[in-house]
Amino acid sequence: MILNTFEYLMMNNPVRAMLQRRYEARKLLRMGGPMRGGRALEVGCGRGVGVEVILDCFGADAVDAFDLDPRMVAKAGRRLKRRGDRARLWVGDAARIDAADATYDAVFDFGIIHHVPEWRAALAEIFRVLKPGGRFYAEEVLRAYILHPIWRRLLDHPLEDRFDHAQFQAGLTQAGFVVTAARPFAKSFAWYIADKAAAPDAERA
Ligand SMILES: C[S@@+](CC[C@H](N)C(=O)[O-])C[C@H]1O[C@@H](n2cnc3c(N)ncnc32)[C@H](O)[C@@H]1O
Repeated sequence: MILNTFEYLMMNNPVRAMLQRRYEARKLLRMGGPMRGGRALEVGCGRGVGVEVILDCFGADAVDAFDLDPRMVAKAGRRLKRRGDRARLWVGDAARIDAADATYDAVFDFGIIHHVPEWRAALAEIFRVLKPGGRFYAEEVLRAYILHPIWRRLLDHPLEDRFDHAQFQAGLTQAGFVVTAARPFAKSFAWYIADKAAAPDAERA
């Protein structure tokens, strides 16, 4: 679901960028460690700050990223122009990811899956496009926040079938992931590291 004007402004300002760089990304980095190069995907990339973080802090060689909102993709395109072919962008839906099976070494979600009505389909798609041995770094907004009367009035979210911490963790497991770290905060936010098991041959190598 595309953001309403209030959330669009909340997401597109220097304070949001600082929070993402200094707090959210660092938390996921402490929990899941860096990548060892390779290609990453960011779902719901917004204006592209996450792509910069994935290249500069997580150590990806290249990042593909998409967002449902063409205005966000245009903003990200301007921000990431100087990164050349290390950043590739498109308009797309996390519930139907336009990428082949087993393409990515890591997938990143900076707070977008709670915007997807079919959130379990998004998790299944992320699992599908990860390589065996790949890692999913996720930060999410939980049901208690979405249904809080103040935020319900100010923000537009799908309201049916929203998840709490236990349900998101169960969704990850159902999609096939092994959850290796999870940190819920105040029933409203949570961070997860979830791995797709390596192929048996790779484990023996
Ligand atoms: C809360 S914003 C987060 C943006 C960015 N990840 C950040 O951290 O600043 C959620 C983003 O998800 C996008 N979005 C919503 N539904 C989506 C979907 N089904 N597939 C891809 N992106 C989606 C919105 O357009 C918006 O840019």
